[in-house]
Amino acid sequence: MNEQQRKEMSQIIQGDAADRKSGQDKPLKEKTSEDFAKYFETTYEPPNLNKARKRGRDEINVHYNFQIPEDIKNIGNGKKFLIRTYGCQMNEHDTEVMAGILTEMGYESTSDTKEADIILLNTCAIRENAENKVFGEIGHLKPLKLEKPDLILGVCGCMSQEESVVNRIMQKHQHVDLIFGTHNIHRLPQLIKESMFSKEANVVEVWSKEGDIIENLPKVRHGKIKAWVNIMYGCDKFCTYCIVPMTRGKERSRRPKDIIQEVRHLAAQGYKEITLLGQNVNAYGKDFGDITYGLGDLMNDIHKIDIPRVRFTTSHPRDFDDRLIEVLAQGGNLLDHIHLPVQSGSSEVLKRMNRKYTRESYLELVSKIRKAMPNATLTTDIIVGFPNETEEQFEETLSLVEEVGFESAYTFIYSPREGTPAARKKDDVPMEVKKQRLYRLNDLVNKQSAEAMKAYKDKVVKVLVEGESKNNPDVLAGYTERNKLVNFKGPKSSIGQIVDVKITEAKTWSLDGIMVENTVEVNHNG
Ligand code: 5AD
Ligand code: SF4
Repeated sequence: MNEQQRKEMSQIIQGDAADRKSGQDKPLKEKTSEDFAKYFETTYEPPNLNKARKRGRDEINVHYNFQIPEDIKNIGNGKKFLIRTYGCQMNEHDTEVMAGILTEMGYESTSDTKEADIILLNTCAIRENAENKVFGEIGHLKPLKLEKPDLILGVCGCMSQEESVVNRIMQKHQHVDLIFGTHNIHRLPQLIKESMFSKEANVVEVWSKEGDIIENLPKVRHGKIKAWVNIMYGCDKFCTYCIVPMTRGKERSRRPKDIIQEVRHLAAQGYKEITLLGQNVNAYGKDFGDITYGLGDLMNDIHKIDIPRVRFTTSHPRDFDDRLIEVLAQGGNLLDHIHLPVQSGSSEVLKRMNRKYTRESYLELVSKIRKAMPNATLTTDIIVGFPNETEEQFEETLSLVEEVGFESAYTFIYSPREGTPAARKKDDVPMEVKKQRLYRLNDLVNKQSAEAMKAYKDKVVKVLVEGESKNNPDVLAGYTERNKLVNFKGPKSSIGQIVDVKITEAKTWSLDGIMVENTVEVNHNG
């Protein structure tokens, strides 16, 4: 990056650009349709999925100089924020970052919409029903906004990266004040200021770009026991059904030293479990020009840190290499659970999905993993009803599920996403057939899950105790190393600890048990 670019980026991060644009603080002004129409014709620059699809060769810029400008720092004093999160763990973690930024601006969190001065909807674009939920919520919030015009209602996350969504909000939901995308979360302070004082009808800032890495963003983590750690952003796989490569930018990895420092810090704070996050974690490090360092190397380094449990998600079978398997086989804090989305059991469908592996190569990978980690639990994601999927191709999915012995699976009916190649295909599979396939698949997955659970009866498992069970405060709940939910009787003092639990009953999706004496905190190196 040259000096000029550095200066520009620093202005962007520190918000000089927005400050210049919004000028002097102006009193909040009621928005009219004319305001909106004028803004729409003049200032508004829509997001662009085509632009977002492009991958350049530019170096990835890592920024360490995030700061909230002095004049915005206390803008939230005495005010409250609420963030609703939809979708994946990446979004949940982005919410923790936005909560961190808002807290530094003086805002306090609330779970009551009526109390909130700012409400953000952190949205998911992966399937149509996720988008429908968000539009439903935008509608529900309209009376509140009319009652309380000073309320800032914002939409962010993956949906805001889509031109069609932004246009729909601008035209039909003019009570939304603020729209920003996944690449400019760090601009939240400036955007809020603009929204408070600007004359514009809406503040819209969505960047259809490949993305940078902003390192030192504040975070308010959701809990004190488990934590998310981003290791990379974006996706370059371009599966033909998936909108993510357009909404999240190109694959870019955080530097190992930054990740390791974050994990050490979490260990020192007493966190018991971390989950390393990325859309395609196995591509970690492939974008480093200067060092050869992949996910296996990172896991090997994290293996040495004194944090009891380390998980990672989401894997792509194509990039899952031998080095990673060898490192995972060491065990210790690297757990015996691999989530390995297969999507379909038919090589022909996988080809049309652009998954870049076949049924056979997936099974080969599974057998390599099983050989190195005989006790590993495998789980997966599956899409049924991809355009023109035949009955035989679907049956290949069923047989693969049996052959691998997945213990659970997230299963979905294919949902066409505008701007993706699969959405342009004609599809001869009726929705009723797709639904039937989903039921059949779920029946099989449930059966396999129940079978796997039965094997735990009368066994003692290690459970990281997360708190009281959702349905019964007299019962505690937590997860085993292989990610099985356990509800059990035990003292509240064990919350946050890893304890031994004897399983008394196996259900389809969870286990019941009793905590046993002599519980010791596990030392992963021991
Ligand atoms: N329709 C249905 N499911 C999808 N997924 C991703 N895109 C779509 C789509 N267009 C599923 C995949 C992925 C999971 C996160 O969501 O199975 O692994
Ligand atoms: Fe989407 Fe495929 Fe990337 Fe996963 S690997 S985020 S399914 S494009």
